[in-house]
Amino acid sequence: MRKLIVAAAMVAAVMASGSAMAQSPIVIKFSHVVANDTPKGKGALKFKELAEKYTNGKVKVEVYPNSTLYKDKEEIEALQLGSVQMLAPSTAKFAPLGVKEFEALDLPWLFKDDATYDAAMKGAVGKYLFKKLEAKGITGLAYWDNGFHMVSANRPLIHPADFQGLKVRSAGSKIADRYFRDLGAIPQIMAFSEVYQALQTGVVDSCENTPSNYLTQKFYEVQKDITVSYHAHLQYAVIVNTKFWNGLPPDIRKELDKAMAEATDYTNSIAATENKDALEAIKKSGKTTLHYLTDAQKVEWQKAMRPTYKWAKGRVGQEVLDLIAKELHVQM
Ligand code: LMR
Repeated sequence: MRKLIVAAAMVAAVMASGSAMAQSPIVIKFSHVVANDTPKGKGALKFKELAEKYTNGKVKVEVYPNSTLYKDKEEIEALQLGSVQMLAPSTAKFAPLGVKEFEALDLPWLFKDDATYDAAMKGAVGKYLFKKLEAKGITGLAYWDNGFHMVSANRPLIHPADFQGLKVRSAGSKIADRYFRDLGAIPQIMAFSEVYQALQTGVVDSCENTPSNYLTQKFYEVQKDITVSYHAHLQYAVIVNTKFWNGLPPDIRKELDKAMAEATDYTNSIAATENKDALEAIKKSGKTTLHYLTDAQKVEWQKAMRPTYKWAKGRVGQEVLDLIAKELHVQM
């Protein structure tokens, strides 16, 4: 009898743990390096909200903003190892994955405006780049916009000659590295979370980024002069570990795809306004001076940075450059 009771208790325990297992949600850790109050930060939170709603809580999305979980390069490694399931790195940071083609998007003065950018990423260029990820065990889900870069220092940057000898922080793209060299600056790769302190202590003199990142990281407090140059574009690819993603129950994945599509529309719809508002807040702070380039000055910059286009072939290959040239109607 006693044996029977013990056996029954064991069966009950196994059943209980089985049902507990069935109920425990699938956790998606979504790591990124920027503040919550940015287009990417808000996009990640929107995805969390929709994913949890559409799956009735069967999926739990844990968002880790501001490099709280991983810094730039570490997050890519973590995704490959499966320690994190979702990222949205800037496309300047894909070389550690062995896919350098994304850096073509960093070519200076490439996208004429927001609409040109949007069309390229929704079209053949975006598809081509995601295809490159497949062999790496990574799946690209969406592109998220964060607008155009400004550039700053503790002196006005108006002419290419003003960059001479400037130590500038680079996010990792060799194309960006190259165009800064074309201007006479000395780029240095550095994780995003380290930029504020590096500017403050003079480890670097200069950086580039979008208004929303300047505002939320307080770069404008340690840079006396910001040129609203819009010389390059910042975009993200939302990526997942393929093994994890394909291993999800199909009905769950369908809901997550829907959540991602809606979070993407939302993020891309707020990016321009978020950056406009951020620029306004920076201006209002009175802590820095904003400079705008005349058309003639823009042409000076374009000419000075032009050698990067020729150099790019050796870095990203002719194929992606040809595709971009065709899709964007630009000369390479
Ligand atoms: C940077 O490192 O400057 C950017 O990639 C940060 C970001 O993700 O917006």
